Amino acid sequence: HFHAIIPAGGSGTRLWPRSRAGSPKFLHDLLGTGRSLLQATWDRVEPLVDADRIIVVTGHAHADAVRRQLPDLPARHLLAEPEPKESAAAICLAAFVIVQSDPDAIVGSFHADHSITNPYGFRDVVQQALDAAVDGDIVTVGITPTQPATGYGYIEVGDLLGRPGAPFARRARAFVEKPDADTARQYMTTGRYRWNAGMFVARADALLGQLEVSQPDLYAGLEEIAGAWGTEAWDDVLARVWPGLPKIAIDYAVAEPAAAAGAVAVVPGDFGWDDVGDFASVSRLRQPVPGEASAVTVVGEGAEVVSTDASGVVVSDQKRLVALVGVEDVVVVDTPDALLVTTRARAQSVKDIVEELKAQG
Ligand code: GDD
Ligand code: MG
Repeated sequence: HFHAIIPAGGSGTRLWPRSRAGSPKFLHDLLGTGRSLLQATWDRVEPLVDADRIIVVTGHAHADAVRRQLPDLPARHLLAEPEPKESAAAICLAAFVIVQSDPDAIVGSFHADHSITNPYGFRDVVQQALDAAVDGDIVTVGITPTQPATGYGYIEVGDLLGRPGAPFARRARAFVEKPDADTARQYMTTGRYRWNAGMFVARADALLGQLEVSQPDLYAGLEEIAGAWGTEAWDDVLARVWPGLPKIAIDYAVAEPAAAAGAVAVVPGDFGWDDVGDFASVSRLRQPVPGEASAVTVVGEGAEVVSTDASGVVVSDQKRLVALVGVEDVVVVDTPDALLVTTRARAQSVKDIVEELKAQG
């Protein structure tokens, strides 16, 4: 039985000040589709699985917003974390909850911060991943890399596995999360690597079995919490155990060690995948509005933008006139209490500002 998990957390610092700790990027409609990134993830997954087989894991502070955005999510299927512990705790807590009622469950975890232009292609690949996962492999989806990006996991692709229903599934020889720039360049030249799309499909017992080996403390803590799911003790156990859990991403906690042990498979996926990571990608991915001739992309409601000889992107919900004259590839992000001005080329560096602000307290 297939169950879906959507981890929704993190603060999206490269999208500051639109994405804030109090209002993270997955809650925003950054692509102008009328749906937030989280809702778009739901829309992609929901045709594959009943709503009562989807679990969303988010921070306590965002639980109300998530509930409002996903009215079809059953109340008990929203797991709210007392504090952020990164993706391993979020995803594996959901897997524990699922396996309790369905020992043969196959789970698919889908990051909540992506853009996918071909949802049919996506669902076809998930179907292949499900078929590839029946024997106990942890199945990843591999995207053809287009540049030596340092923000992704890289999967070294090995031999074909020859699994029924998953003709393109291959053994993953290694999984390397966020390599440095030199290593990423080297990977690109070999042609043997793919980007991890942020999707993990596996038998729940196989996923948790790997967690038990590589992160026994996290495993034990999550097992204890999940045991209280659906009981009156839930809030107390969560409050007592969660703060002490190791803070680690699923990529380090599970994918890297599982690949090293020969237990990861990879299905190639080319369905218009993109990571909505910074304002340059927002401007690239934003659906062009018919008849919108301007070289300035406007994201958000309310702002009126006038420009002459200007190009770039304006992100704003403020009822305020934004005027651009003679600036190229500019990024303007206007929010009530912070204004960001940068360029598309430097959009990645926005996270440095957030670090700087944090350092200043
Ligand atoms: N509930 C919860 N709590 N979810 C979290 C937390 C947390 O503390 N931290 C992160 N998440 C969620 C995010 O919302 C997202 O859906 C997913 O976990 C991945 O976290 P990111 O912080 O966005 O990871 P990343 O983008 O740096 O890297 C991951 O995604 C890449 C593709 O976009 C890795 O899986 C890479 O290997 C991958 O290439
Ligand atoms: Mg991400």
